[in-house]
Amino acid sequence: MVKINKRIIETNLRNEDIEIEPKLRPQTLDTYIGQEKVKRNMRVYIEAAKNRQETLDHVLLYGPPGLGKTTLSNIIANEMGVGIKTTSGPAIEHPGDMAAILNNLNEGDILFIDEIHRLNRLIEEILYPAMEDFVLDIVIGKGPSAKSIRIDLPKFTLVGATTRIGLLTAPLRDRFGVVNRLELYNNDELKTIVTRSANVLGIKIDEKGAEEIAKRSRGTPRIANRFLKRVRDFAEVKYEGTITKTVAEETLNILEVDKIGLDVTDRNLIMTMIEKFGGGPVGLDTLAVSIGEESDTIEDVYEPYLIQLGYIQRTPRGRVVTELGYKHFGLKSNINTETENMKLF
Ligand code: ADE
Repeated sequence: MVKINKRIIETNLRNEDIEIEPKLRPQTLDTYIGQEKVKRNMRVYIEAAKNRQETLDHVLLYGPPGLGKTTLSNIIANEMGVGIKTTSGPAIEHPGDMAAILNNLNEGDILFIDEIHRLNRLIEEILYPAMEDFVLDIVIGKGPSAKSIRIDLPKFTLVGATTRIGLLTAPLRDRFGVVNRLELYNNDELKTIVTRSANVLGIKIDEKGAEEIAKRSRGTPRIANRFLKRVRDFAEVKYEGTITKTVAEETLNILEVDKIGLDVTDRNLIMTMIEKFGGGPVGLDTLAVSIGEESDTIEDVYEPYLIQLGYIQRTPRGRVVTELGYKHFGLKSNINTETENMKLF
């Protein structure tokens, strides 16, 4: 049970994400590129809920950062025709904050909680009855005169987003009726996103230019949009203003992003594994200390793309560089006498 804290809600709710220009965010499922499976399913759930005049079941979105979880939650609100309030796990410090946010929702609203895996346990527990029965147990007053009451909440849909579904507690995870995993985008999808963003921002770009940015954006629209803006700067200052393949190549080379999107940290990570740990297996924490990054950052930001490329693998004994990983750096592995031997047994 918690004390309600009305004062907090304004400070803890974010009105918009400032990382991506709101103009770049698609507003409808039809204009949202990629994630076909997620879109196909969400269309059905949204239509069904609307037909029954019910709120949509709670939705959990998970996957690497920058793939459009916030964008998708705004689209869900838009398609449902309801309001959305946005906050994040680390922004909610006290149980009273959570209670105040819930108590101030309007009927049918979406509550979007980004980084939901970072909610603390006490706060999470307020969510359980709220998600299940739309009620809030609160304490009013202090000491012997304190009274506990149960108040009804408006019906709402919780949309939770996380890069780390493994860190969610089972009781919280189980209360989401819809669980969607967002995947890294392929080059064609990224090319379409880059072309669309260029259109929205009035940037001149040819097809090969869009293709080059897409190929180096490691499956991530947020990175593609960031590169688009940097390449535009070079196109305007050093070239004729239009983004071509050459402009994109030269800009991204200057930014030390290679042909398939690996940056300084990716290269450092793989070369450290090869040079200091014989290609692995090496534990995540050991690797993190060696390259001066957080373990979480390696796991969330760097690994998914490197694993998708097939350059590194997770094994029970630690991370391993694959034959393909060696090849990208023009090296030959002495792979993996150990792995080969294991096959024999
Ligand atoms: N901008 C960022 N992500 C996008 C997506 N999936 N579709 C369209 N535009 C985007």
